[in-house]
Amino acid sequence: MKIQKSGAALSKIVRNGERLKRLAKESGQEYLPLNRGINQVVPIDLTEVIPQLDFASPEMLNYPPTQGLYKLRKAIGEEFFRGASSPENILITGGGMNALDLIVQTLGFQKLYLPRYYWGCYHHILTIRQKESGSYARQAELADRLEELRGNAVLICDPGNPLGEKYDDEAQLDLIRRLNAERIPVIVDSPYRRIFAGREDDYYARLAELDNVIITESFSKSVGLSGQRLGFLHTTNRELMEELHVRLMYATNGINAFAQLLVHELLTGETGKRAVTEFKIRTARNIERNIEYLRERGLLAEAFYADAEPRGMFAIVSRTEEELLAHRIGSVSLSFFTDTEKERAARFSRICVSVPHEKFVQFFDPLTHCPAETPRTPNRPLP
Ligand SMILES: Cc1ncc(COP(=O)(O)O)c(C=O)c1O
Repeated sequence: MKIQKSGAALSKIVRNGERLKRLAKESGQEYLPLNRGINQVVPIDLTEVIPQLDFASPEMLNYPPTQGLYKLRKAIGEEFFRGASSPENILITGGGMNALDLIVQTLGFQKLYLPRYYWGCYHHILTIRQKESGSYARQAELADRLEELRGNAVLICDPGNPLGEKYDDEAQLDLIRRLNAERIPVIVDSPYRRIFAGREDDYYARLAELDNVIITESFSKSVGLSGQRLGFLHTTNRELMEELHVRLMYATNGINAFAQLLVHELLTGETGKRAVTEFKIRTARNIERNIEYLRERGLLAEAFYADAEPRGMFAIVSRTEEELLAHRIGSVSLSFFTDTEKERAARFSRICVSVPHEKFVQFFDPLTHCPAETPRTPNRPLP
């Protein structure tokens, strides 16, 4: 059989998880899986939400419209865009990954500029779709590189994965407006943002009108439903939307109706909204306390947060993957998330900080009494 190989690989994060499970089984001891990119403080409590769903309704049983259920797109318009956009600008996708892939395959750019420390899947999607990547070290430098960016596109992820760095909103919005005015497409992929914010957040509303900006979102992180595989993308460009719609149709024949109805209930129903609020409050509070703890104990790799605040679901610690593993903590080496100075990056690890604070302290306290094998605090700022 002739196979057209893409050259992309499966994620190392999955392999790390398998190793952790094996070690836990062999030793009979508990391991803390901070290598994973999921909220682990509490699961969203759906006990009162599920009875609101009618499993025998035609909406649940029949093909949904390819663009997604109208009522869900309307609810997204209100929840994420404060009514500043319309359902026609929204396409429901099979998670954020599906939204990103659709955009990468459809947009006519040469290179997609990614942050220097980036989520590996961006690279794999680009490889499969035979597109290239460019790189930027900090958001502020993009405004000085406009000539180079022409014909290419820029990806913004904030708070980021892997660093968990959160840039100032106003400066970021200014930058995106500038790129938009220069007709440089900007993909805003920030699925961690809404863990920390709700309907009051006007960031997306302020981006809604910009016709070179495409927003991709996911319900995997902000409402903890990664198993449902649901997300959406937003664009005001009609021609682009039509093409995305066609491609989504022949790739999926529509996105799972159960997931759409469940998320609709979460965004509009009283019990749903309560469940989401409770989930976000508890998750955000524990994340904040865990980052504070890392800071106080000198474990946070501060050099990565010179231009931004550590305020995401991930943080970088100044310990290697192996050092953390010796304390039964799963992580992913930072070298996995960059193409530059990989050796240096290997001295740091990405951990998920969305776990109960008490559990976090229980595993990290022994580590704080244990000096790092080699000095980690970089005496020069990171590039
Ligand atoms: C930065 C970023 N974007 C998008 C996604 C896609 O999430 P999903 O496909 O689960 O919606 C992830 C998942 O980890 C992510 O980290």
